[in-house]
Amino acid sequence: MSNLSFNKVAGAVLATALAIVGLREVTTGLFSSEAPAKPGYLIEAATEVGEGAAAADVMPDFGTVIPVADLKAGEAAFAKCQACHNVANGGANGIGPNLWGVIGQKPGTHAGFAYSAAMTDFGTKQAVWNDTQMYEFLKAPQKYISGTKMSFVGLKKSEDRVNMIAYLRAQGGTLPVPAPNPAAAAPAAAPAVAAPTDAAPAEVPAAKPAA
Ligand code: HEC
Repeated sequence: MSNLSFNKVAGAVLATALAIVGLREVTTGLFSSEAPAKPGYLIEAATEVGEGAAAADVMPDFGTVIPVADLKAGEAAFAKCQACHNVANGGANGIGPNLWGVIGQKPGTHAGFAYSAAMTDFGTKQAVWNDTQMYEFLKAPQKYISGTKMSFVGLKKSEDRVNMIAYLRAQGGTLPVPAPNPAAAAPAAAPAVAAPTDAAPAEVPAAKPAA
């Protein structure tokens, strides 16, 4: 091997070694695995999830839910109202008015009770207490009728309010239960009603597609 060839080879080896070292430096820089102090982006999903949960509280179809509501549960939940309300026929007014027959009665008109201006005003706009108004009122009384003197936080669970309305209806209520109309219920409730099951076609031969 001539000197010249040796130099060439040595040079090549040296260049390769340098290249490897250099590459290592470069890659360490490129692929550093240190976690950044702050993530570069945040996915703000929380708000949407919250809104979705609120939207899930859809107005029930009262013609469907009232006949199957749990009256015993409604009666038990009335313990929360009893500090202020009596629901017996001819019962006395307390901190709140007697509630016998309240469903179907004009809001703010029970004899002998001094209602707030807010409740009396509500009564001038609403003919009678019906299911939908009671459902909203019992959820958050002071939000639904701003200025009411009913200082009660509300029944947050939809089921509790339905049971309470059914119970109040049973205590002298004069409003007929509406006919079931599931089609009018909000879209969120529709799949549960319409969801097909594997067994359905065999067991319901009458369910022919409309011509
Ligand atoms: C801290 C006392 C208090 C509690 C607890 C309470 N209420 Fe009331 N409620 C009142 C008062 C006071 C009024 C009258 C509101 C007004 O005049 O603004 C009222 C009004 C009402 C009315 C309207 C009555 C009408 O004649 O128009 C209904 C219905 C009603 N309450 C239902 C309930 C139910 C159901 C509960 C339990 C889930 C309950 N309230 C819990 C104090 C209370």
